[in-house]
Amino acid sequence: MANRLTITPVKKLHGEVFVPGDKSISHRALMFAGLAKGSSRILGFLNGSDCLATLQLIKQLGIQVNEVSANEIILRSPGFFSEPSDVLDCQNSGTTIRLLAGLLAGQNFFSVLTGSEQIRRRPMGRVLQPLQKMGAQIHGCKADTLAPIAISPVPSLKGTAHELLVASAQIKSCLLLAGLFADGETSVTEPGPARDHTERMLKAMGAPIQVAVNSVSIRRPDHGLQSIDVIVPGDISSAAFLMVAACIVEDSHVILKNVGINPTRDGIIQALQQMGAAITLHNIREESGEPVADIEIKYAPLTNITLGSELVVRMIDELPILAVAATQAKGIAVIKDAAELKVKETNRIDTTVQELRKMGAHIYATDDGFIVEGPTRLQGAALDSNGDHRLAMMAAIAGLCAQSDTHVLNADVIKDSFPDFTNSLRCLGAIIKEN
Ligand code: S3P
Repeated sequence: MANRLTITPVKKLHGEVFVPGDKSISHRALMFAGLAKGSSRILGFLNGSDCLATLQLIKQLGIQVNEVSANEIILRSPGFFSEPSDVLDCQNSGTTIRLLAGLLAGQNFFSVLTGSEQIRRRPMGRVLQPLQKMGAQIHGCKADTLAPIAISPVPSLKGTAHELLVASAQIKSCLLLAGLFADGETSVTEPGPARDHTERMLKAMGAPIQVAVNSVSIRRPDHGLQSIDVIVPGDISSAAFLMVAACIVEDSHVILKNVGINPTRDGIIQALQQMGAAITLHNIREESGEPVADIEIKYAPLTNITLGSELVVRMIDELPILAVAATQAKGIAVIKDAAELKVKETNRIDTTVQELRKMGAHIYATDDGFIVEGPTRLQGAALDSNGDHRLAMMAAIAGLCAQSDTHVLNADVIKDSFPDFTNSLRCLGAIIKEN
C-alpha cells in the first residue's frame, strides 16, 4: 500500500467483490485456537497488519504456526501458552493488547505487552483495573492507565462479577478470557450489545459460557478448549466503505460477497436503509457460528436521520464512513451516544470532522458524536489519515464523489485492516493512483 493515494471522481461503480476476512474474528481465532490442544485451521484469515501482529505474538507464546497461504493458517498447540522470552509488541492493535492482557493475566509466567506510540496513548485502565480485581498482578504506565503493561505470574485468578460502564467488546472479551483461568464464575454485564464473537467462538470450543441479554458468564473449562476449524467471514467494517461508496456515487450497482452480518455488527446496514439506501441481503447462511450474506447495493438518494444508543454500538467503527454518506444526504444527521469514538486509533470525532471539512463538508463535532448538514458537493482536497486506517479509507471514499481529485496522505495504514482496499475499489471502476 502506497503512502499517498489520488482518487479521481467517478460516474458509477459496478461489479461484485469479496471483502477481506473479519478482523475481530481473525484475532480471536488465532488466540483461542492457540490455547486449544491439537491442531486448528483458520480459513479466510485477514492478513492485515493488526492480525499479523497477533500471529507473531502467538508464535512468541510457544504455538506452532503453519502459514499455508496468506489467508489460511494451521496452528498446533500443546493447549497452553509458554513464557515469552521478549516483550510482546502489539503494534497498532487495540484488540491484540486488550484481549491478550486478559489471556495472560492468569498465567503462571511473566509477560510484557507494549505497542506503537499510538497504542501507548490509548486507555488501558479499563482492562487493568477489573483484572486487578480478579487478583491479577498486572500493572501499566502512568498509574496503571497506559501500556506498556507488565504481568507477573499468579497461580490463578478469582471469578468476579464485572459491571461495564461502556459497551466494549474488547473489555468484555478481556475479562471473559481471564475467566478461563479463574476459580469460580466470572460474569460481565454490559450497557449495550457489544460484538459477541468471543462468546460464539468460545461456545463452539466447548467453554462453559452462558449468554443472557446484556450479560455473559464463564467458568474455567474442565478439559481446556477444544481445537476448532474457523471459516472467517468477510468483515462488515471493511464492506461498509464499499457500501457507502455505492450509496453516494450515482448509478452504482455493487454486490459484496460473503460478508458477516452478525446482529451486533450490522448497524451500518440498518442505518443506511433508514436513510433510504437500496440494500438487499442475499444467500443468508451461517458459517462457523456466524451469520453471513451477500450484500447488494443500488444507488438511491439518501435522507439524513438521527442515530444513537444501541444502533451506534452496533456500528461504532462505521461512524466515520457514515459521516461521508451524511454529507451526500438531504437534511441534518445527528450522531450521538458515540463518545467511545474519542478513544479509537484516533479521536475519531475530531479527525472525521477535521478531515471532511477540508472538502467543504458541513460537519460539526459535539461531545458525543457529530452533526452533518447535507447534501454538499465535496471539493477535492488533500486529507490525512492521521495514522488511522478507517480515516484513510473514509477520505478515499469521499473522494469518489468530489468535484476534483482527492489526495489521501499517510494512507499506508489501510493495511491494518484492508490490505487490498485500492484493488477492490478498482474492480468496481474506481480510478486510484498510488504514489
Ligand atoms: C473490537 C471492538 C471494538 C472495535 C474494534 C474491534 C473487537 O472496540 O472498535 O475495532 O475486536 O473486540 P471496543 O471494544 O473498544 O469498542
